[in-house]
This record gives sequence, structure tokens and C-alpha cells, in this order.
Amino acid sequence: MVSAVWYFKDNYLLTNTITEQNHVLMIVKIKNTAISLVKGDITFQETDAIVNAANSGLMGGGGVDGAIHRAGGPSILEECKKIVAKQGRLPPGKAVITAAGNLPTKYVIHTVGPVWRGGNANEAAILASAYTESLRLAESHKLESIAFPSISTGAYGYPFAAASAVAIDSVIKFAKNEALLLKKIVFVLFNDAAYESYAGALEIISRQ
Ligand code: APR
Repeated sequence: MVSAVWYFKDNYLLTNTITEQNHVLMIVKIKNTAISLVKGDITFQETDAIVNAANSGLMGGGGVDGAIHRAGGPSILEECKKIVAKQGRLPPGKAVITAAGNLPTKYVIHTVGPVWRGGNANEAAILASAYTESLRLAESHKLESIAFPSISTGAYGYPFAAASAVAIDSVIKFAKNEALLLKKIVFVLFNDAAYESYAGALEIISRQ
């Protein structure tokens, strides 16, 4: 069964579609950029870039980081090592780009989110910066599409409700104020709780 709800307001349109597989897909269009939510595994995304929720050492890890290095093969780690040798550890909130090895995407943008320390340690600003710096890097490489995981909400412990509000707010601001070539920004959510949280944030913030 397919059903859709459409909302129009100024320069965006919101669809809320239930597909045949019963996966909910949500899309909001801000100016020329579509922001969408899907459920799934980020390593399968065919966008121009996917974003890695890395750590400052850029040497791989678990979660998204482990999945990307496993699926992409050793060339990504080799490139990360060269970056660290040249410029040192990657501070939280910053981003760097590598090729994508065996992944179906062209590039991996590695960013570092904040570790959740209760909410008073600048976490929101660092998380917003991780999204914005990744998007700027994508623009500077003339990319048209990018897929994000839910940065910081796994090993780094950021609660989904707070993280999704920051993530959605950051990409909507970017789409409104900075996007030139980027036409598609996808959030790839790994489970129902993550999806529901991002869908709620997208609906609220995109109506403002
Ligand atoms: N695709 C999409 N989302 C995924 C995947 C995947 N293959 N695997 C995990 N997730 C989800 C998790 O459920 C979580 O909500 O991504 C979110 C981020 O989780 P982490 O990967 O643990 O990232 P983060 O919280 O930013 O912690 C970063 O984890 O492994 C390390 O090297 C990494 O030290 C760094 C830390």
C-alpha cells in the first residue's frame, strides 16, 4: 500500500510516504535541496559521498566507522593515515574527505562528533559543526548528494531526541543559506527509534 501526505509552505514540500515494504520515507525540499530520511545501512548508499562517524585518530572503530572500513577495504584507512600524518588528529566538529574504496559511493567524508557529557560541554555546537563542515567539504568537491548517519548517537552516547534536532537544524540552515550544488541530503537511520526521532525533528523544524 502506498499513501502520501503533502504539505506545501513557501519554498518546501513535505512528503510522508509509506512504501510497499512499509518503510517510511520522508522528504523535505528546501530551495533546491531535498532532505530525506531512510532506514538502512549507510554503506549501501549510492550518494556521491557518505559520512563516517569517526574518531579523532581516524584509525577505524566500531559502529558506522567499522562498517565503512570493512565494506570499503584497506585503501580508506591508508588514506586516513596519510591525513593524520600530515595534519594531525581530527578535532571534533571538523571533517576530512577520502576516496571510498569498494563502497558504492565516490567519497567518504570523515567527521568527529562530540562525546555526550550531559549537554553542557558544547556538545550541540560541536555536533552542528560536524554536519556543517561535512556539507561544506561536499560543496567544495562539487558533490550533488551526501548521506549522513546519526552522528554521535552510538558509542558517543548523544540522546537521539537532542541529536536529531541539532542534525536537522544544521542541514536545513545549510540548505537555506549555503547550498549551491548539493541537491540531495539523506539521513540513513539504523533503527525505528532513530527514524522516529529524526522524522519528528524534520517535521517540526521544516514547518518553522
Ligand atoms: N549504517 C547506519 N547507521 C549505523 C550503522 C550503519 N551501518 N551502524 C551503526 N549505526 C548507527 C548507530 O545505531 C548510531 O545511532 O549510527 C549511529 C552512530 O553510532 P556510532 O557509529 O557508534 O558513532 P558515534 O556515536 O558517533 O561514535 C563514534 O564510534 O566506533 C567508533 O570510531 C568510532 O570512536 C568512534 C565512535
